[in-house]
Order: sequence, then structure tokens, then C-alpha cells
Amino acid sequence: MSDMQNEDEQLSAVGSSRRRFLTQLTVAGAGLSVAPYLKAATPSPGSQLTLIHPINVNMVINGSKKSLTVDSRVTLLDALRNNMQMPGTKKGCDHGQCGACTVLVNGRRINSCLTLAAMCEGDAITTIEGLAHGDELHPMQQAFIKHDAFQCGYCTPGQICSAVGLVKEGHAKTDADIRELMSGNICRCGAYQNILDAIKEVQTA
Ligand code: FES
Ligand code: FES
Repeated sequence: MSDMQNEDEQLSAVGSSRRRFLTQLTVAGAGLSVAPYLKAATPSPGSQLTLIHPINVNMVINGSKKSLTVDSRVTLLDALRNNMQMPGTKKGCDHGQCGACTVLVNGRRINSCLTLAAMCEGDAITTIEGLAHGDELHPMQQAFIKHDAFQCGYCTPGQICSAVGLVKEGHAKTDADIRELMSGNICRCGAYQNILDAIKEVQTA
């Protein structure tokens, strides 16, 4: 057997044991830590959650009054995506670290993965689906398109909602302020400079 064949076999053995390790890690980790909770509290889209602690919540979502019955443990993010069939708000980390789930509650930006739906009684929720008026996009949506402020787009609904909240807050005076106040919204594609340009355009409009 040649040296090259030997090397190929060794590399292949390392690759397959690494794959096995990662598979075991993923399955065991999920099984031991989060799976029971996820099974209880986070249904897959379209499935029905067993309501252990049902609670009625009235909200105004994108201008429409909605009344829904959800389990008391359900997050606003899951209520929007699973109960309201509004998948525009994205689930990234589900731990308050990426900002993909940002929505506006009474005009304030929040992480909907860290907010229980039950806490939103009587609140006005604005999601990415509610920013445009018919066919007319919100100025921030237009600016994101104009400045090419996204690549894969997964973080974009959260970035746009957060940017709308930031402009409304009126605290950002410099580029550094904007970067700091948008630092809760992570973009894995690294579109930060273009996001900054889009926000500045809306700020000065
Ligand atoms: Fe909410 Fe990441 S999904 S912060
Ligand atoms: Fe891909 Fe931001 S555009 S993560």
C-alpha cells in the first residue's frame, strides 16, 4: 500500500470519528438538557401544544386585536410564530443573545424570546409584518434594500425592528452610538457597515 493511500485512510478515519463524536454530542446534549422543556413548551410549527397552564392573552398585533389562549410558559416569539402563524420574527439563539427575535412592544424594542406572551396583556406588538403600509415599505425597509444591508436575511427582521426602535429612541448621535445601540443584533453575514448606512439614512431623512 502506498504512503498516499495510508494517509487517505487515516484522514478518513479521523473524519468519521469526528462526525460520530459530533453526532453523539448533539443528540446527548439535546436529550439531557433542553429536549424535555422543548417538548413541553415549544411545539413544532402547526402542532398543538398541550396546555398545562392555559392563559388568555389580549394583544394588538400590527394594529389588529387578537385574543389567544396559550400555555403560561410560551414566549411571545413562539406565540407569534406558532399560534399566530407569523414567521417573520426569527428564532436564532432563543436565549437573548442574537436579536433575531426583536419586535416592538408599545414602541420599545425587546427580545421576544425572553418575553412571555402572558406578560403582554393589553400591549401593542409590532413585528416585521406590520411595518409596511400595504405595498409601501417602511422607510427602514427601503433603506435596508437600498444599502444592501443583508446577505442571507435571517437577522434582517430583527435588525429592522431594532433599527426602527433605535431611531425612535433618539439617543444615537454618532456612528459609534449606532453600533453600540445595535450591538444586541448579531449579523453572521457581517453586513454591519451597510446596516449602519441604512440607519443613518433614515435618521437624517
Ligand atoms: Fe431571541 Fe436570539 S432568538 S435573542
Ligand atoms: Fe445573514 Fe445577517 S444577513 S445573518
